[in-house]
Amino acid sequence: MATLPNGIRHLPGFLDRAAQEHLVEAIRRIVAEAPLYVPAMPGTGKPMSVRMTNCGPLGWVTDKERGYRYQPTHPATGKPWPAMPPELVEMWEQLAGYPKPPEACLVNFYSDNAKMGLHQDRDEVEFSAPVLSISLGNTCLFRVGGLDRKDPTGSFKLSSGDIVLLGGEGRLAFHGVDRIYPGTSTLLKNGGRINLTLRRVNP
Ligand code: SIN
Ligand code: FE2
Repeated sequence: MATLPNGIRHLPGFLDRAAQEHLVEAIRRIVAEAPLYVPAMPGTGKPMSVRMTNCGPLGWVTDKERGYRYQPTHPATGKPWPAMPPELVEMWEQLAGYPKPPEACLVNFYSDNAKMGLHQDRDEVEFSAPVLSISLGNTCLFRVGGLDRKDPTGSFKLSSGDIVLLGGEGRLAFHGVDRIYPGTSTLLKNGGRINLTLRRVNP
């Protein structure tokens, strides 16, 4: 995609290998405390192909009965989400241009055949803070459109260590993950891709 919609920034290779390995270690500790679970679409209960957990004061969850929401506890264990690693809070301070810290970090784990349909991130109350997304592991094809689902879309690849910011006019842009490219990174021993998204939920 030659030009990105206003407010969407792609920072290729923002994290070096050591920083990526450090984050993977932090995520392993988070997953040990707050296991990955299979989210379900509201209403239909159809399982998503991506597995999820969270860290920080709030976590984004979804299930058949209650749908998309933020909550302070893990849906299976009932325990509070693990703390957000300080390096993530520092990245937010460096890049988000928003005076308050992130409240939620959604951890998405994609196996090599997982994908995520086109959607908007709109379950937050505060839209003036960006969504800061970090890619780790295998490369994916990321798709971005406009503010209407029917707007034209474009796609580009996200590699391990890349950052994407959805901010400004692009904060509510439709986006999704078309596919993962197996074998494109050695970061994760068993393949797949991890995506972290830092979000501010409340003003
Ligand atoms: C998301 O939209 O929650 C995930 C985006 C990504 O995996 O890059
Ligand atoms: Fe999203």
